Amino acid sequence: MAPRPCLLLPLLLALALALGPAAGKARRLLALEALGEAEELAEELWGAGLPGDLPELEPECRRLLAAFAEGSAALTGCLGRRARPVRLCQACHRHYRRLLAQYGSIARAVGNSSESHNCAKSILTSDRLQIVVTLSEFFNETWDAANCANCLKNDSEGLSDSTVEFLDLFNKSLTCFEHNLQGQTIYLSPNNYTEVCKNCNETYKMLNDLYNNLQRMNRQGGESGHSAHLCIDVEDAMNITRKLWSRTFNCSVPCSDTVPVIAVSSFILFLPIVFYLSSFLHSKQKKRILILPKRIQSNASLVNIQEKYS
Ligand SMILES: *[C@@H]1O[C@H](CO)[C@@H](O)[C@H](O)[C@H]1NC(C)=O
Ligand SMILES: *[C@@H]1O[C@H](CO)[C@@H](O)[C@H](O)[C@H]1NC(C)=O
Ligand SMILES: *[C@@H]1O[C@H](CO)[C@@H](O)[C@H](O)[C@H]1NC(C)=O
Ligand SMILES: *[C@@H]1O[C@H](CO)[C@@H](O)[C@H](O)[C@H]1NC(C)=O
Ligand SMILES: *[C@@H]1O[C@H](CO)[C@@H](O)[C@H](O)[C@H]1NC(C)=O
Ligand SMILES: *[C@@H]1O[C@H](CO)[C@@H](O)[C@H](O)[C@H]1NC(C)=O
Ligand SMILES: *[C@@H]1O[C@H](CO)[C@@H](O)[C@H](O)[C@H]1NC(C)=O
Ligand SMILES: *[C@@H]1O[C@H](CO)[C@@H](O)[C@H](O)[C@H]1NC(C)=O
Repeated sequence: MAPRPCLLLPLLLALALALGPAAGKARRLLALEALGEAEELAEELWGAGLPGDLPELEPECRRLLAAFAEGSAALTGCLGRRARPVRLCQACHRHYRRLLAQYGSIARAVGNSSESHNCAKSILTSDRLQIVVTLSEFFNETWDAANCANCLKNDSEGLSDSTVEFLDLFNKSLTCFEHNLQGQTIYLSPNNYTEVCKNCNETYKMLNDLYNNLQRMNRQGGESGHSAHLCIDVEDAMNITRKLWSRTFNCSVPCSDTVPVIAVSSFILFLPIVFYLSSFLHSKQKKRILILPKRIQSNASLVNIQEKYS
C-alpha cells in the first residue's frame, strides 16, 4: 500500500530541513523539486479515490469547468486582439455565445435534484472567491458596455442587417480614401486632399446618413430598453471616419441636419419681429377705436364752443 500523502509531505519536508542550510542552494533546489513531485504524487493519490467527503470534482463537472476555462481564454484573447480598431462584436460574438452556453450548463445544474450532477454547487458557490461567477460577470459587463446586442440579430447568431450594411459602407469609404490618396506623394503636398473630398463625398454622406438613422432608430426603440449607444464597433468606425474626413482631410461636412436647423433658428429669430409687428398693428387698431370717440367729443365741445360764441 502506498503511503498516505499527509505523511509523505512532512516526511520530505523534514528531509529537506535535515539537509540544512549548510547543504547549499543546489541541494535546496533539489529538495524543492522533490517537494513539487511529492505534491503531484499526493494529488494523484487524492484523485485515486480517497474517503467520501474530500473536495473531489466529479468527472462531468471537471469537464464542464475545463470547457468554461477554455472558452474564457478564447474570448479574452479575441477581445484583446480586436480592441483596436474595435471589432469586438463582429469578431467575438461566437466566443461570447459559446461561453454563455458553457456557463449555463454549469449553472443549470443548480436546481437539479440529482446529486450526481450538482456541478453548480461545487463550482459556483463553494468558496469565497467564486472565480467562475466573477469571470462570467466580467464578460457580461464588458458585453453590455460594448452594447454588442445592438448590432447583433435578436436571437440567432450573426450581425444584424443594418450593421452589415453600415460596415459595408465603412469599408467602401475607407477604400475610396485609400484609392484617392494613392496618386499623391504625401511628402510634397501633405494638405491637399481635394481629390478625396471631391470623390468620396457621396460614400461619406451615405455612411453618415445611415449612422444618423441608426442612432435615431436606436433612441426611439431604446426608450423601453436601456441605452442610447450603438454598438462599439459601429460607433468607433464612424468616429474614425468623421475624424479623417473633417480633421485630417479637412473636407467640408455635408451635414443633412443643417436645413432643419436653419429653418428652425430663422423661425425663432423672426418671432420677436412678428411679435412687435403684430402688437404694433393691434395697438394701432385700438388707437383708432380710442381716438374716434375723442374726436366726436372734441367735435361736440367744438360745437358747444361754437354755440357759445355764436
Ligand atoms: C438533472 O440532470 C440529469 C442529468 O443531466 C438530467 O437527465 C435531468 O433531466 C436533470 N433534471 C432537471 C430537473 O433538470
Ligand atoms: C451572464 O449573462 C447571461 C445571459 O444574460 C446569464 O444567463 C448569466 O447568468 C450571466 N452571468 C452572471 C454571472 O450573472
Ligand atoms: C426581438 O426580441 C424581442 C423581445 O426580446 C421580441 O419582441 C422581438 O419580436 C424580437 N424580434 C425579432 C426580429 O426576432
Ligand atoms: C473591404 O472588404 C474587402 C473584402 O470584403 C477586403 O478585402 C478589404 O480589405 C476591405 N477594406 C478595408 C479598408 O477594410
Ligand atoms: C490640390 O491638387 C489639385 C490637383 O489634384 C490642384 O488642382 C489644386 O490646385 C491643389 N490645391 C492646393 C491647395 O495645392
Ligand atoms: C460631391 O462633390 C461633387 C463635386 O464637388 C458634387 O458635384 C456633388 O454634388 C457632391 N455630392 C454630395 C452628395 O455632396
Ligand atoms: C471618438 O474618438 C475620441 C478621440 O479619439 C474619443 O475620445 C471618443 O471617446 C471617441 N468616441 C466614441 C463614441 O468612441
Ligand atoms: C481647412 O480648410 C479651411 C478652408 O476650407 C482652411 O481655412 C483651414 O485652414 C483648413 N484647416 C486645416 C487644418 O488645413
